Amino acid sequence: MIVDFGGELEEVITREEFPLEKARKIYKDETISFLGYGSQGPAQSKNARNQGFKVIIGQRKYDGKKVSKNWKKALEDGWEPGKNLFSDLREASSRGDTVAMLTSDASSYEVWQTISNGLEEGNLLYFSHGMPLIFGGITPPKNIDVGMIAPKGAGAGLRDMFKRGTGTNASFALEQDFTGNLRDRVLAMGRAIGTGYVFGNTMGLEVVEDHHGERNTLLASAGAVAQSAYMRACASGMNRRDAFIYTSEQLTQVILPIIGAEGAKGIYDRAQAAGKAHIVAEMQKIISGATVDINDNLYKSCSSGNEARIALESNNLPGYRDQLKGELDKLNTKDIWKTGFDVRGMNIDRTYGLKIENWELTGAMLGLIDSQYACLTSNGHRLSACFNETVEELTQCLNPKFYQDSGCSGLIGVCSTTAQRGALDWLPQFERVISAAWPEKVVGSDVLQGYSPTNVWTVGEIVRGLRPENQAK
Ligand SMILES: NC(=O)c1ccc[n+]([C@@H]2O[C@H](COP(=O)([O-])OP(=O)(O)OC[C@H]3O[C@@H](n4cnc5c(N)ncnc54)[C@H](OP(=O)(O)O)[C@@H]3O)[C@@H](O)[C@H]2O)c1
Repeated sequence: MIVDFGGELEEVITREEFPLEKARKIYKDETISFLGYGSQGPAQSKNARNQGFKVIIGQRKYDGKKVSKNWKKALEDGWEPGKNLFSDLREASSRGDTVAMLTSDASSYEVWQTISNGLEEGNLLYFSHGMPLIFGGITPPKNIDVGMIAPKGAGAGLRDMFKRGTGTNASFALEQDFTGNLRDRVLAMGRAIGTGYVFGNTMGLEVVEDHHGERNTLLASAGAVAQSAYMRACASGMNRRDAFIYTSEQLTQVILPIIGAEGAKGIYDRAQAAGKAHIVAEMQKIISGATVDINDNLYKSCSSGNEARIALESNNLPGYRDQLKGELDKLNTKDIWKTGFDVRGMNIDRTYGLKIENWELTGAMLGLIDSQYACLTSNGHRLSACFNETVEELTQCLNPKFYQDSGCSGLIGVCSTTAQRGALDWLPQFERVISAAWPEKVVGSDVLQGYSPTNVWTVGEIVRGLRPENQAK
């Protein structure tokens, strides 16, 4: 269907429009070969297997001299070597009609060198990100189809939402239509892997907005605003436990769930009732204004391919995964996240009755959303993608599944190594900018402040209406 996202028309395909039966029929005689069993691989392949698609896995057995932990994971998940699990990626790809490149983005070129001459005319080369094709050095031959379904969430979230009967949404791109059936094949893949609905995009736009989002509200700036608020709370004399509850818990257990369910209107309705709307509005304005430059710099770094280059180069260094793990462990030694482990280990109700206590932090989060969304839209990204990369993925997939339960490093740690590198690099930069902009005292104007339905929240309301659970109503 064509959806009017507050003035821009975009194509969205719901489950109703592209039923599972249609997808199954398209794949009746075809095999999907998923290469890579890291984050997306297990989720996409298991969702497809559960829905009756013919699926095989290509996962290397050895990572260097060690048996790969992902090979072991594939065995634990019931894939059988020689039957539907192959350690030779070339063999796996040559057995598939659709070859899904779900190996890490950084290894795309190397994997492509291994598998490319095993592809047959008319195969579908499928991606879940724009990076391998746009910045990864892959040039597919002209006699195959090339398309993308990019889920807006980590693999564990995709699997979790599928099992709950909802579905992560995803963007789709039709890059090269050799067979004339590309559109149906790609949309069928969207159903096979268990998405909620898909919206149209290109791989070129997707790679930039995705890198921008994960270095910003999806991972880095969300962590940064919590860290900044926590330091202020401690400096004001609050004890560590209360400071964590007043900042990180407020963000992940209260503010983000309200934004996810009701958008900024839900925030402002509560703020007005509590007489705090002027605080929210003032902080929103301050943080939105203060983060314009960092957003622009980040955007330039993503669109020029600089972020992709950094991820590719660092991924190719020996021992890089251990280094990343070391960086995440170091993040855990920060006072806020150490306290987080303690609080999460306590036997307390962590839902806090969806009661907002920290109005400054609430405004700051809305400000971060405003500036990221404005940066993406002003650079020509589609409105639904801008909302997804700024709010929807965070509130629907990342926050409830990871941030609430495993904190900032847990959240970053489940994402691709490209996202991990970017988030770790940009988190301290966002924290510096946010901390410097946060005033000693937030005053705000006396003028009655209320919710104003700016474009981001108009789009948000439409996006919420497209969620599978809301489509069913
Ligand atoms: N993770 C996310 O949140 C997310 C979200 C949306 C889209 N995506 C996209 O989905 C795709 C897959 O991402 P992912 O996060 O699932 O990847 P990942 O967790 O980084 O997966 C790594 C997989 O690639 C394999 N691999 C790495 N280097 C290899 C090499 N040199 N040769 C052969 N295999 C190699 C790994 O095997 P070993 O274990 O043996 O190293 C593992 O199976 C990417 O395009 C990514 O951008 C990811």
